[in-house]
Amino acid sequence: MSVIAVVGGQWGDEGKGKIIDFLAEKVEVVVRFSGGDNAGHTVINPYGEFRMHLVPSGIFYPQVTCIIGNGVVINPAVLLTELDELRNRRVDINQLIISDRAHLIMPYHILLDGLEEERRGKGALGTTRRGIGPAFADKVARLGIRAGSLLDRNIFLKQLSSTLEVKNAILTKVYQHPPLLLEEIFEQYCHYGELLTPFIKETVSMLGRAMARGKPILLEGAQGTLLDPDFGTYPYVTSSSPLAGGGSIGTGIGPRAFDRVIGVFKAYITRVGSGPMPTELQDKVGELIREKAHEYGTTTGRPRRCGWFDAVAGRFSVQVNGFSDIALTHLDVYDGFPSIKICTAYRFDNNVLDSFPSDAAILEKCQPIYEELPGWQVATSEIRDFAQLPSEAHRYIARLEELLSCPVSCIAVGPKRKQLVEVRPLLP
Ligand code: GDP
Ligand code: IMO
Ligand code: MG
Repeated sequence: MSVIAVVGGQWGDEGKGKIIDFLAEKVEVVVRFSGGDNAGHTVINPYGEFRMHLVPSGIFYPQVTCIIGNGVVINPAVLLTELDELRNRRVDINQLIISDRAHLIMPYHILLDGLEEERRGKGALGTTRRGIGPAFADKVARLGIRAGSLLDRNIFLKQLSSTLEVKNAILTKVYQHPPLLLEEIFEQYCHYGELLTPFIKETVSMLGRAMARGKPILLEGAQGTLLDPDFGTYPYVTSSSPLAGGGSIGTGIGPRAFDRVIGVFKAYITRVGSGPMPTELQDKVGELIREKAHEYGTTTGRPRRCGWFDAVAGRFSVQVNGFSDIALTHLDVYDGFPSIKICTAYRFDNNVLDSFPSDAAILEKCQPIYEELPGWQVATSEIRDFAQLPSEAHRYIARLEELLSCPVSCIAVGPKRKQLVEVRPLLP
């Protein structure tokens, strides 16, 4: 048995796609377990550069089965576009499987996501407007429609007519928006269903068989821990759990099967969308990081907010996920920095806080307390051997390990697949 979860340790965009693309070579199955097409996972490998929104980042290995797990919400139009692009670029997509339990994003979800953001006005959450929140809300409210329903027109029509009645009442009476047409959505989704039918299957038994054969399975997280609906900066969060625990629920693999839980962290921190971010740098250093690392959203193109590494949030993230290892990415972005800061605690109301507060309003008022370490003046992007990294980088990494009480097992020094330093093997 060998199940390895790869989870975002911060506010998303840590480089999960790159780590999965690197690790997937050695596994039999990769499963995406949460989120939807709000995710944007960049993969740069011999096939070129890709932005994966729904398809697992292991798709580039023909021997790897890639599953879109039950915990994902799927916009079929986005998925079909992504599959077309992969096909056009000669990537074999025959090993893709879609869980019949995964819920569908419907046109009213996207509409309601946007209308709700408009209604919030200045207090908008800064969602990706992909319909993610409304789709997960419907799942829990038992109004959702699952991928499996696309396999039977009659079942699909029955579910759609019943749900659309409620949605149209909300659209017209609450938001003064014209109603959506049943016939139009039905025909459109039946067409998607025909195209996706070969991929839609029951996946839990398939994963059970792979585990019984002792084959390694990678769980691909989306978003990041600080966007978790329970543990993130509520209400500035997403709507499914990006945590390792979400990896169990979003696939049907019990937690005892997990061998490793890898937390992906940037050497600094970024956030896209609204909400508190104590170490945000609204100065030249923040701009330098943004331009050097091209920190613009993969899904929405929005500039990402950049800041120093937040070890208070990091420690919290290690705890709620139970990380066994850290994959530290973007170390190269710090090349040439005279010095580097790490936030080790917060100051709040004349008190020192060393734990992550549950209330976003408190976090908003927290001032970071920094420790400053010397930077390094050499380029790290061609280094592949840990010993070759400059001593200041060793010191920086060792300090993060100490503050987070978790070993850094691999270090990314650039966006390409091979730009990685393995401190210890993550897979046998
Ligand atoms: P994900 O959502 O966690 O998969 O991350 P994104 O793909 O949204 O954002 C990460 C960005 O950083 C992408 O543009 C990657 O190509 C890039 N990237 C990943 N790892 C590294 C790294 O170690 N160094 C640099 N410079 N860029 C990286
Ligand atoms: P990956 O997988 C970064 C953010 C949005 C917004 C909040 C809620 O690429 O790391 P939503 O559309 O989910 O309802 O938006 O969550 N967000 C992400 N930020 N990376 C992501 O995914 C994100 N997915 C959602 O910007 O602040
Ligand atoms: Mg991303």
